[in-house]
Amino acid sequence: MKESESQHNTIIRGFSKLNRDQRIDLVKKRMGRELTKELDAFLQSNAEFQQAFSEFSENYLSNYILPFGVVPNVLINGQLYLVPMVIEESSVVAAASRAAGFWAKNGGFNCEVLGATKKGQVHFTWTGSFGFLHDHFDELKEKLFQATNSITASMRKRGGGISSIDLLDFSSKLVNYFQLDVSFETADAMGANFINTCLEFMANELSDFCSAYPDQGELTIVMSILSNHTPESVVKCSVECEIEQLKSLSGSYTPDEFASRFKMAIDMANVSISRAVTHNKGIYNGIDGVIVATGNDWRAVEAAGHAYASRNGNYQSLSHIELDGKRFRYSIYVPLAIGTVGGLTKSHPLARFALEMLGNPSSGNLMEITAALGMANNFSAVASLVTSGIQRGHMKMHLSNILNQLGATIQQKENAVLWFADKTVSYAAVEKYLTTNGGDTGASAK
Ligand code: MEV
Repeated sequence: MKESESQHNTIIRGFSKLNRDQRIDLVKKRMGRELTKELDAFLQSNAEFQQAFSEFSENYLSNYILPFGVVPNVLINGQLYLVPMVIEESSVVAAASRAAGFWAKNGGFNCEVLGATKKGQVHFTWTGSFGFLHDHFDELKEKLFQATNSITASMRKRGGGISSIDLLDFSSKLVNYFQLDVSFETADAMGANFINTCLEFMANELSDFCSAYPDQGELTIVMSILSNHTPESVVKCSVECEIEQLKSLSGSYTPDEFASRFKMAIDMANVSISRAVTHNKGIYNGIDGVIVATGNDWRAVEAAGHAYASRNGNYQSLSHIELDGKRFRYSIYVPLAIGTVGGLTKSHPLARFALEMLGNPSSGNLMEITAALGMANNFSAVASLVTSGIQRGHMKMHLSNILNQLGATIQQKENAVLWFADKTVSYAAVEKYLTTNGGDTGASAK
């Protein structure tokens, strides 16, 4: 690659054919600068894993590091877990830990997998009648099962496989559009590759089948792909306690007032999409942290969750509350299509470590743990929002980010934490604190 070419706004050809050093070189040229020593060291870090990681993604440059934290004392179905979370938002692990600690003393999280069925579809057009496909469907189905027999053999040994195949007629919505709608059980795997392979085999079989009846119509396979809409792969998580037990979280409110403000927050999320999306985002703070830590696909999990939140026609809260006399009952239902085998779960050393920390759970166990963390973060967020507000806790964590950005020393950081304990944190306030008195004013100066 000529330097003059790479420095300008020209199309880059053959980027994936370059080796890692050449790619970094090209990026530097495009950016028009050398890397600082610190950045260069970062790009080269974990050299022993570079080869393995380069195989996870095309055009690999380096590893992107995020904080890996742990939430202790997560009591789920009577068992205590240390739950790993990978997340960049500074207050999330603290919020989850607060809720986990509270519920560990109040009965813990009760979780139950309601189903783990995933689906995929062969999307096709057919110019013939639905009646013809419908009348021949039993025969076709038999052929579809047979065509996938060899691929499903090992999954069937693990208790999974194809559980049903249906023919769906969408032709009233889109001319000639039909689907093979296939249900799968994927044991401890998320199963994306398994499902997609089965679907592609079925698509070929369907083509062969229809080509034997050229007078009946013309078939065009458009695509074969799993669906990330997983309303049958759902876990329920619930907590409950005496309202009186909520005293430690109620701030200046009585436990009854706190509980009814909490309920109002959920009611609001059920009628306002503006509130509901943020409310559910708080749930995904916890869920995504576990999903990323364990090497699962957080985009799939998010997509499924937000679609599920809209299942009644309006986007609503994924968590539900019931105040029943003196009892506070809180629950969530979340769709989760995740695995503890396959994908990155075993090939990423920290994902492997995360799963080991959880006692090498089954995918069902991991669904329960993940849902509990979603509930923990949501509970903590709503409890803060309806009492002191969120900024107090957030800004404390944010303070350390600002101090790092401003290059504060360890001593200055310690002083600043004490100084800002009863003050409002903002970038400007922290900057002023550091410049006006060198950040050496702490508790002793108060
Ligand atoms: C911030 O990451 C999450 C919250 O906004 C969630 C919520 O508002 O419920 C605090």
